[in-house]
Amino acid sequence: MNSLKIAIILIAAGVVGLLAVNFYLPPPYPAYTPSYTASDFKSNGERIYFTATSNSGEPIIASIGTMRMYGMLSCATCHGADGKGGRGAMMMWTFDAPDIRYSTLTTASGNETPYNDELIKRAVTQGIDADGNRLEPPMPVWQMSDSDLNDLLDYLKTLK
Ligand code: HEC
Repeated sequence: MNSLKIAIILIAAGVVGLLAVNFYLPPPYPAYTPSYTASDFKSNGERIYFTATSNSGEPIIASIGTMRMYGMLSCATCHGADGKGGRGAMMMWTFDAPDIRYSTLTTASGNETPYNDELIKRAVTQGIDADGNRLEPPMPVWQMSDSDLNDLLDYLKTLK
């Protein structure tokens, strides 16, 4: 390998390293670091649903407005362990979290557009419902890797 190639590789590694550091910079409040392991859950999707942490260790970030949270709120916190939703409360404020079992989301109800896989992913990562309307807080807007999002979707499909 000539030294030019080595130099290019080193520069590329440095750039990736910088991006990674940026991405992992701690939030302005103490990071919440629960100690789950892969064996605590049957699948990565189940782990994400209940803990908002991933087997890969890649960050899963929930944003509600300007608030960013890591592993503090999970889908189960609001939509329930069974995905059926219900009434939740946060800081003296109550809200109704909808049923997000896959079968419910993908079945047409009234004049609402049924979800499909892509629309569910959009709802989770962009906070937009199947009809194109903005999902209201406290539904967070989620950031996670594509593979984590796919695992989460697979898990929603198992909720009956
Ligand atoms: C802090 C509470 C909270 C958390 C945490 C939360 N949600 Fe929600 N979610 C809601 C609320 C409330 C709504 C309804 C918002 C609205 O109707 O505008 C909602 C709506 C949704 C919808 C749209 C349902 C529909 O009928 O249109 C989907 C899909 C969804 N959530 C999936 C998830 C997933 C997956 C997670 C975990 C990654 C999650 N939510 C975490 C509160 C929450």
